[in-house]
Amino acid sequence: MSNHYDRRSFLKAAGSVAAIGALPVTMVELAFAKPTENFTFAYISDAHIQHIRGTKFVNNWDRGLIRAVAEANLMTPPPDFVMFGGDLAQLGTQPELDHGAGMLAKLNAPLKVVMGEHDYYLDLGEYWSKLFGPQYYSFDHKGVHFVVLNSILTTDEWTFNRWPTPEQRMLEMAGLDNPNGSPFMVGEKQRDWLAKDLAKVTKDTPVVVFSHSPIQKIYKGWNFWTDDAEQVQALLKPFDKVNVIYGHVHQIQYNQIGNISFNSVMATAWPWPYPQSYAQAEQYLPKLTIPMNRADPFFERDATGWQMVNVNTGRVDLAYNLYNNKPRVVGFDPKLGHPVDKDLQSVALEPNRTHY
Ligand SMILES: [Fe+2]
Ligand SMILES: [Fe+2]
Repeated sequence: MSNHYDRRSFLKAAGSVAAIGALPVTMVELAFAKPTENFTFAYISDAHIQHIRGTKFVNNWDRGLIRAVAEANLMTPPPDFVMFGGDLAQLGTQPELDHGAGMLAKLNAPLKVVMGEHDYYLDLGEYWSKLFGPQYYSFDHKGVHFVVLNSILTTDEWTFNRWPTPEQRMLEMAGLDNPNGSPFMVGEKQRDWLAKDLAKVTKDTPVVVFSHSPIQKIYKGWNFWTDDAEQVQALLKPFDKVNVIYGHVHQIQYNQIGNISFNSVMATAWPWPYPQSYAQAEQYLPKLTIPMNRADPFFERDATGWQMVNVNTGRVDLAYNLYNNKPRVVGFDPKLGHPVDKDLQSVALEPNRTHY
């Protein structure tokens, strides 16, 4: 009951946070018919903590995560838990994972974690699992069934036989537009687990799935893609209301496939270009993605930000606050049956900033 608050006071609290500055954390509100069931959680993703040498790490990526953790700790009311959406490390090393875990340990709320490919492909998730536990799992919280998937797996051939060293494998997967990368997949073992897990859930229970890669096919060349997406979607199809929230793409995306609403969250580290720059996306996700919303990808906090996610009777609305830019809302439109960008911005970009 300590999290009982009305929507007005919640928005007031969110507004006071926004006044500090747009921050790279996602705030999530689950608002149900009974206000006493409302709750919030925070979402932080894609920190890409990068080791240089000794005790030196890339300062900018550190700062993004430190700021997000501080922001989550300032949330009023406090989040019930904090989800980290994957890519904690840049090259999956123990110093990177330790350093990132140390920053996440400063969170007041319980932490839950999704596996990213940058965390995985050096030692196939071994050290990450020591720090954070199982790579896929589910839990129930205040009437919602949450599922966490490891969606960045790939074929055994690619994983075990192709590369002379684990370091080489990690580097190949870490390059965004590297043709040697291999498509991500959830895989049969996890899909079997998911089928069993969902069999216990009534069809009118709202389901929220957290994954690192989108459980849909957006752009294969950059692995904005999950190869067995259709098979995972089929398992989610019997449920009335399903929301997939994912990281990895470092940008705002939204989509609707059947009963499943898809929403991405932003990174604390840096933005990737928006899909108007990769035409293949249009084949798969018309009306999916907002236009490029920033002028300069080398401006260190540009296109990072924070989002409030409102799941109203099982449907997700996201209010995005972008650093140094206009806020926008992507909300589920019941008449159209899919999320729409309620404040679609002009594709005209801000003037270029001077590099420094
Ligand atoms: Fe990432
Ligand atoms: Fe990623």
